[in-house]
Amino acid sequence: MDIFDIIKKRVSVRAYKKDPIDIDTVRRLIEYACMAPSWGNKQCWRFIIVDSNVEKNLLGKASGQPIIAQACIDAPYVVALCANTKESGVKNGVEYYAFDSALAMENLVLAAEAEGLATCIVGWFDEKVVKGILNIPKDIKVLAFTPLGFSGEIPKPSTRKKLEQVVYYNSWGKEEIK
Ligand SMILES: Cc1cc2nc3c(=O)[nH]c(=O)nc-3n(C[C@H](O)[C@H](O)[C@H](O)COP(=O)(O)O)c2cc1C
Repeated sequence: MDIFDIIKKRVSVRAYKKDPIDIDTVRRLIEYACMAPSWGNKQCWRFIIVDSNVEKNLLGKASGQPIIAQACIDAPYVVALCANTKESGVKNGVEYYAFDSALAMENLVLAAEAEGLATCIVGWFDEKVVKGILNIPKDIKVLAFTPLGFSGEIPKPSTRKKLEQVVYYNSWGKEEIK
């Protein structure tokens, strides 16, 4: 599969098999995540690999989404994405930790796809609760987590807006090149 096939094939998966994955595979995926670009090469991202059933279950519950809760129970791993905001770039009041960490997460989900593994970025959860579960310090942001495992479903492909709806030429609102 080339990179274009991987990008096209990746979908959010919300049902997982319980089949195990080698921890070395998970660590390799995070190595790919860490190859993402970042503001000033600050690499503020931090990852927590969770394989404990107790913590996986609690993380799923913290999402308040029953389908995600089940996904976190079944998937052999949940990977949480955090950011050390003190280590990230800030310029003119703009903070870059979320941008940089999101790039890393995208690398992770694409690398997982290339390995035949499934993910679903979960961004809606009670951050305070997640921090409690994973002993995350106050000054660290929790941005997302994803179940990681073998897909247990064939999700309906999600749709995308047409190019015409999201691309302008030379100035905002100009829909043609001439
Ligand atoms: C920042 C972010 C947060 C998300 N949070 C959730 C979530 O809390 N629950 C969920 O089921 N999906 C979540 N998703 C997955 C999106 O719903 C999904 O990416 C979108 O519908 C497009 O579908 P696709 O990933 O299959 O292409 C999130 C995705 C992103 C990028």
